[in-house]
Amino acid sequence: MTVPGELRPAVTHPPVPTNALDAPTRAPTPGLAGAILKVPGGPTLPEFDPNSMAQLLSRMATELYRAPPNAPEAPSASSVSPTTPNALQKSEENLPLPGGARGRGTPVESPKESQGVIPSLGPAPTTTTAPPTSASLPAAPPHAPTTTVSAPSPFDAPPNFDSLFGVSGLPTALPLSIPLFDARPERAPEPTQPKSVDRFQLEPSTGYSQLGSGSSLFDPHALRREFPILQERVNGKPLVWLDNAATTQKPRTVIDRLTHFYERENSNIHRAAHTLAARATDAYEGARESVRRFINAPSTKEIVFVRGATEGINLVAQSWGRRYVEAGDEIVITWLEHHANIVPWQQLAAEKGARLRIAPVDDRGQLILEEYEKLLGPKTRLVSITQVSNALGTINPVREMVSLAHRHGARVLVDGAQGVSHLRVDVQALDCDWFVFSGHKVFAPTGIGAVYGKADVLDESPPWQGGGNMIQDVTFERTKYHPAPARFEAGTGNIADAVGLGAALDWLTRVGLENVSAYEHELLVCATERLLEVPGLRLYGTAPEKAGVLSFTLEGHKTEQVGGLLDREGIAVRSGHHCAQPILRRLGVEATVRASLAPYNTYEDLDALVAALHRLQAGR
Ligand code: ALA
Repeated sequence: MTVPGELRPAVTHPPVPTNALDAPTRAPTPGLAGAILKVPGGPTLPEFDPNSMAQLLSRMATELYRAPPNAPEAPSASSVSPTTPNALQKSEENLPLPGGARGRGTPVESPKESQGVIPSLGPAPTTTTAPPTSASLPAAPPHAPTTTVSAPSPFDAPPNFDSLFGVSGLPTALPLSIPLFDARPERAPEPTQPKSVDRFQLEPSTGYSQLGSGSSLFDPHALRREFPILQERVNGKPLVWLDNAATTQKPRTVIDRLTHFYERENSNIHRAAHTLAARATDAYEGARESVRRFINAPSTKEIVFVRGATEGINLVAQSWGRRYVEAGDEIVITWLEHHANIVPWQQLAAEKGARLRIAPVDDRGQLILEEYEKLLGPKTRLVSITQVSNALGTINPVREMVSLAHRHGARVLVDGAQGVSHLRVDVQALDCDWFVFSGHKVFAPTGIGAVYGKADVLDESPPWQGGGNMIQDVTFERTKYHPAPARFEAGTGNIADAVGLGAALDWLTRVGLENVSAYEHELLVCATERLLEVPGLRLYGTAPEKAGVLSFTLEGHKTEQVGGLLDREGIAVRSGHHCAQPILRRLGVEATVRASLAPYNTYEDLDALVAALHRLQAGR
């Protein structure tokens, strides 16, 4: 059964047919790209008519950039008379701008200042052109009349693809998942004696020809055309971007959203009563709503903008952690953690006299759940776990881990940095106390991310940084803070990139996480099979539940050498310790080459990687 919010691929995959081992799985010569549509002995694919697809794509593009059906019609400037009450009223109904600033802006205290100056307050309203705000924003309160006229903008309501596909929404769930690899129970390993992973017996894939029913509406070639940078050539070769776990590329809609912000909306937020402050505040708070919706948080009050997952974890450690973690308490993490989910807890533990405990993994990089459970007890104050390992791709059974920790009264933080772009997240179903992620790994700009915190947890947490924006009142004797989220957003934040984050999450929602999960799973299975054919290649991280990460070493070559040689072929991968030294050492290595996937990767990308590695091993 698919449980909302369960941290495993939301799209599940058809079982491997029992005769799959006998069936040829790929065309012999033309490479994977050619093999997608024609698999000897494989199941028949639906006919694929490139002309219809082109028409469909063109209609999708039109839909994307046309004004949403419920957007207000842009009246001509002449149709809005500043002195006509009806026109004013119509303008207000249609254009609930600027919701945020009306509700949140600093009240204007000097009537003199406002006279004839501030359109929303002054007696002589002016007509300007502004982008419409989302139809979901609250209607303008009567005290904030405006004659601002909106032009249709692509940044409002999401386009409706239903009419194109003739379905009421993209598929949301598919039947039963199969593990990528055979999972056998193992004894807990001795963590102090790291072992290498031997080559493992790979279960045959379902065939990369079968782009699973979840991805039947999904065309990675169309998707990649939305990413301008993917048209780049590097060292004379088409760019193959396989460093997605480090950062994802940005779709045109996100780039355009940033441009739009700086061209039409740029202002500081919350603090002024002028029109641009209203627009910027609307855009920023609209992005908070996009984050809330994306992870299904109950309220935008539970969404705090931060620089990224690292800052989010530090926020929790320095705020909640410093108040509630005491000497003798235990903080539980796993061997799979990124340094960002190790170091802040080490620092806190050292300061408080608390103890850091590490849940072990087996040789495939799979968390040993029973061992994790044994670590939990009355001393466990906090559990902080990654959703997906950045170094190996292992997906942790986070929902179960949260539930086990809660039985012992511990709070749980989930580091979603590597999960949010691959798996649908529902923080309410997960029941985690905090969920943190970075925007740049989910098609948004760098320098922006979010912390979800349960309302009661945020309420009991003190601010961790002081400054403007987070206070209600300051005297030299004492300061009264705002409630969350403002309490945790001291100073001027990264407003434009928060808006970009909102655009990225809305975009990904339109693409469909289920489509992404299904397609990436197929790519991962295929890439695993093909990489294991490269002489001297050893894969690290072969857990049954994995997201799109392939970590490997190549006999006879240093990892940075492999990275450099691949770069000469236009292929971007990361080589090194991936800011996750403990897990690599646990598997017996100091560094790996890491190829990591996104939905715009194609079978051609895998062909290029595999062919380059073969050439490297052949000394060509
Ligand atoms: N955390 C990022 C990575 O895994 C930088 O590459």
